[in-house]
Amino acid sequence: MIQKEQLNSNIPRHIAIIMDGNGRWAKKQGLFRAIGHENGAKGVQEAVEACTELGVKYLTLYAFSTENWNRPKREVDALMKLLVKSLKKEISSLQKNNIRLNAVGNLDALPEKVKKELLYVIEETKSNNEITVTLALSYGSREELIKTIQDISIKVKNNLISPHLINETVINEHLYTKNLPDVDLLIRTSGEQRISNFLLWQIAYAELYFTKVLWPDFKKTDLFEAILNYQQRERRFGKTSEQLS
Ligand code: FPP
Repeated sequence: MIQKEQLNSNIPRHIAIIMDGNGRWAKKQGLFRAIGHENGAKGVQEAVEACTELGVKYLTLYAFSTENWNRPKREVDALMKLLVKSLKKEISSLQKNNIRLNAVGNLDALPEKVKKELLYVIEETKSNNEITVTLALSYGSREELIKTIQDISIKVKNNLISPHLINETVINEHLYTKNLPDVDLLIRTSGEQRISNFLLWQIAYAELYFTKVLWPDFKKTDLFEAILNYQQRERRFGKTSEQLS
């Protein structure tokens, strides 16, 4: 088991996680999928704690994609209920540990109760600065990019921005993630090796880490292992090894 003492000081500033495998975890034990999600919520707590201990400043979690709306109503309802329950339960711990909650995605598509609770916790924790935990909810990267292009086009039409001045900074400022730095490390659990419409722009130079561990089984030591692996990589950002040294 990897201990945090084995890590060096090169801690990723921004970690993003595709928390996959809740359904399979439940099925393996003959339980309803919703129970898998409930245990997945415990995994969220574990990941936030581990990141706080290490000094990770941004953690972004794919909690519900635009495509997840197509799941059976019963499962969608259970996930929405779990979100409200978790937000209510965790607010005091977020305050105590100086954690800022943030959300990205089409939040207007969420049920009123979820949106209200979410916005309340975001507002209440907005001055916390130990770590920013961002929930991607009703989030899809293509939807985000379409919205970004629409918003910039309107500004061009109204002569607020000139087309040749559109650059990476302008695009970053129009994304849901406008207040977040680029992702350094993207983790996906459960053995699947794909991105599933998550942060396509923001992971341009992220290191990718895939593990077979199902999300409800993902413990602190699994996160330490992912970071140890990250620390063994050479991030060249298009340069040569020689240039870096
Ligand atoms: C993917 O597993 C997981 C989800 C679609 C939901 C993620 C939600 C949580 C971890 C819990 C709630 C979160 C918070 C922030 C309290 P899957 O259902 O696709 O698993 P499968 O691929 O094995 O079916």
